[in-house]
This record gives sequence, structure tokens and C-alpha cells, in this order.
Amino acid sequence: MKKVFITRKIPENGITMLRDKGYEVDVSPHERPLTQEELINFLETRQYDAVLSMLSDKIDAKVYDVAPSVKIFANYAIGYDNFDITEAKKRGIFLTNTPHGGVDRVAEHAWALILALTCHAVEGDEYVRAGKFTGFDPMLLQGTIVRGKVLGLIGAGRIGTEVARIGALGFGMRIAYYDIVRNEKIESLHNATYWPTVEDVLKQSDIVSLHVPLLDTTHHLMNVEKLRLMKPTAYLINTSRGAVVDESALVEALRSGTILGAGLDVFEHEPALSEGLKELRNVVITPHIASSTIEARMDMAAMSAQNIIDLFESGKPRDVCTG
Ligand code: GLV
Repeated sequence: MKKVFITRKIPENGITMLRDKGYEVDVSPHERPLTQEELINFLETRQYDAVLSMLSDKIDAKVYDVAPSVKIFANYAIGYDNFDITEAKKRGIFLTNTPHGGVDRVAEHAWALILALTCHAVEGDEYVRAGKFTGFDPMLLQGTIVRGKVLGLIGAGRIGTEVARIGALGFGMRIAYYDIVRNEKIESLHNATYWPTVEDVLKQSDIVSLHVPLLDTTHHLMNVEKLRLMKPTAYLINTSRGAVVDESALVEALRSGTILGAGLDVFEHEPALSEGLKELRNVVITPHIASSTIEARMDMAAMSAQNIIDLFESGKPRDVCTG
């Protein structure tokens, strides 16, 4: 009988799918991410065949070494920068993700951050709750209109394309994008303009939204120099991975007025925030919840469980991470 370890409680539908196949399923009892040491301890106690992992689990040679019976690590996430793919390939271990789970929701969340910033939604809420609202004031918390402005996308995969769709159709925005490959869909459906460098997009955009995976080549993609290329009236939105942005450079840019504001769902040293970030009024921060809807979370549970089932039944999981 196959044994599966799930590193954190997920929606029941994924667990039921695995149990219905007759697999023995153990779920971490902790209501928090496991440290790598704890994960290793769990994997040493039983000979598991599969692990359903979270994006917070660092899965590398240390883990592969102690769990030679594990044939698949199935990430409950779109991103998979927590995997050492090279090392897994050498050992014939399958790594999978849930590339279709939560895409629309992440795009909606990027938009929630854009609108929260440009409408001062969070500041306004705090203002009223603090009892500071004394009546209509024409000068109070003036925001920025997004209609007709330029939305710059760094990365135009599934999520970037959906962010563009909402911007173009909902707000009449002009879309400028950079990606390592051109995306004909975003160009034909949303009239997006491709630019050959990140810099081209940064210079002209009123809102810049990041939709790239975290790789060696995208680590600190947004650094001091790149932030300086943005307009002083522009906003930066990050729903991808924290380390795509040099967070201390961002704090300085927000403090000094290099850019107007930022909306962040992810952080470089998650769950910690860089010094000074939370004191800033021109940043809206959410706790890595961009894909957090009941629907998306259930889809992700089903997709990660299905990848495990596929491996055991046909040897071919659908969503193999190729690096
Ligand atoms: C969330 O960040 C994910 O990668 O699914």
C-alpha cells in the first residue's frame, strides 16, 4: 500500500482522493510550516512513497538523501522555487506543481492591491476606524485613476495575461509587457505591446506588476537601478515571489519617493518583513494569500493529489516541473 505524507493540512478533497485509492495518508499535525529538520524527521520515521509539499518546504539533496523511497514531491503551489530540480533529476524523482490552480485568483488579487493603493482603501479604512473622519473633505486621501494609464507586466504567462485582460477590458489600460518569450495571445486579445527589455517597460508604466518565477536570473530583478527607472508616480505590485524584489532597496525607494507605492503579497524573507516596510504608509501588504479562495485551494488540493495518483497509476503525472 502506497504511503503519502502531506506536509500541512490541505482541503479534505485532496486527502479523500488519495485515501479513495487505498493509500495511507499522514498529515503533519502542526498548524504552521515545517522546518526542514522537522520534515526530515517525519520522512525518517516511515518509508513514504510520495510527499505532498508546500512552497515553504525546502526540498533539496538533504531531503532526497533521507527519503530514497519517495518517488514524487507534489507541490501544492503554482511556484516551485523550493525544489532542487537538478538534484531530483539525477535521482529520477518526480517533482510536480499545480500550474492551473488559482491563476485567476492571483490575477484578481494583483488587481485588489492595485485598487487598494490607488483608492487609498486601507488607509481610508484605518482613518475611519480611528475616528478621524469628521465629514466630507475634497482634499482627503486623493487617489489616482487607472483608466487609460499604462499597465506594465514583467512576465506574461497565465497570470500576467489575466492581469492584462482585466486591465484592458475593465479599465481601458494600455498594456506594455516583457517576457523571455513573446505571447501572441496577450498581443492579439489585449492589444499588449511587447518590449525587448524589462527597462523599456519600467520607464513607461504607471503600474508595474511582476509575474515571473523565482530563478537565479530573476532574483532581485527589481533592484536599486531598476526601481530608479520607474516613474515617481508609479506603483509596483508583487504577487510572484518576494526575492524577485530587493526588499531593502524597495523600502528605500518607497521612503524617498523614487516610486509612489507598492502592493505586496510576497516577501523576500517570508514570513519576516524587511526593516521599515510595515511602517510605510504607501505600501499595502497581504500575507501570501493571492490564490486563497475556497475554489482555488480545493483545485490545488485535487491537482496535487492527482499528480501523485497519476504517477502511481500511469507513471506520468501531468504537471512535471522541468526547470
Ligand atoms: C503561491 O504562491 C503559489 O505558488 O501557488
